[in-house]
Amino acid sequence: MEVIPLGGAAEDAGQMARDVRAGLSATPKDLSPWPKYFYDAEGSRLFEEITAQPEYYQTGAELSILKDRSDEIVARTGCRELVELGSGSASKTRALIDAMFATGGAPPRYVMLDVSESALRESGERLVSEYPGLGIQGFIGDFDLSLGRLLGRPSDHGRLVAFLGGTIGNFTPEKRREFLGALRDGLRDGDRVLVGLDLVKDRQTLEAAYNDAAGVTARFNRNMIRVINHRLGAGLDPDLFSHRAIYDAERERVEMWLHSEAEQSTVSPNLEAAFERGEGVRTEISTKFTPDSAARTFEEAGLRLLDLYTDERDLFALALGGPA
Ligand code: SAH
Ligand code: TRP
Repeated sequence: MEVIPLGGAAEDAGQMARDVRAGLSATPKDLSPWPKYFYDAEGSRLFEEITAQPEYYQTGAELSILKDRSDEIVARTGCRELVELGSGSASKTRALIDAMFATGGAPPRYVMLDVSESALRESGERLVSEYPGLGIQGFIGDFDLSLGRLLGRPSDHGRLVAFLGGTIGNFTPEKRREFLGALRDGLRDGDRVLVGLDLVKDRQTLEAAYNDAAGVTARFNRNMIRVINHRLGAGLDPDLFSHRAIYDAERERVEMWLHSEAEQSTVSPNLEAAFERGEGVRTEISTKFTPDSAARTFEEAGLRLLDLYTDERDLFALALGGPA
């Protein structure tokens, strides 16, 4: 598989140092604007493990929608090229690829973008061997920075740009607007988008999903500290941090935090930071949507919501959209 660097991924430690310094000097400390720093090879591996936890309903729900609706989505959009942003293990994507093959005609194309090189290579190579006829291209980069360049590449086909896994929920509201605006600007006539959204539901289900009994989400969360240590030469103790995930019903989002159980500090050329005992850092948000907030979110970005597909239990939704 061809793997093309687009920039904004792991190579830029200077940018990461600036982001982390900004996040750790805020009150309260806040690293949630940069979820991409979770995803080194270990972070990608832990994320896959999260998706297999019994409390984490999203992956199963999204997969069931894709299995039920991919044929319809492909027929309706007429797409021959699937562009997936934040593709990760690309395991759910197979339903869409199968549906593109099932329509017959010219061989479909699959373009993937992820910030995690290990995830991109592993999943890309698996797909190459599973789908001999599929044209695959992999891009390593940050979708905040490289969306325009990715979508600006020539293409002879109608494209479906997929953004699965509820990753859009991990953006701050400002980032979400910027991202969807850039996505909208990158679409050509006939292109469509398919965005996975986790739906508002009861607190218990939501909090259980991010506090799995096996502690995998806690390990994923603490991995952020390891990535900071590793890439910025810092010396924070990941094991001193305890994981918390709390649903904020008013803002309709789960917040993940790490609280330092003891006072600790680190000084390196890239990062000086200190935590009081009990002090927390918000590490990620996961926004939940309703059909109304989904429609509003699309509308604000100049996208038209064409359909909102949900699973049987209304846990998760796939929003299909096009230029307004
Ligand atoms: N779509 C997959 C993975 C979701 S996890 C699924 O549904 O299972 C989020 C994915 O987005 C990870 O693979 C992560 O590496 C990637 N990612 C996170 N921030 C990113 C960024 N800024 N640019 C590109 N990829 C990013
Ligand atoms: N976007 C998904 C969600 O918010 C997946 C995800 C991203 C996630 N980061 C996570 C899941 C951290 C658990 C913990 O649920």
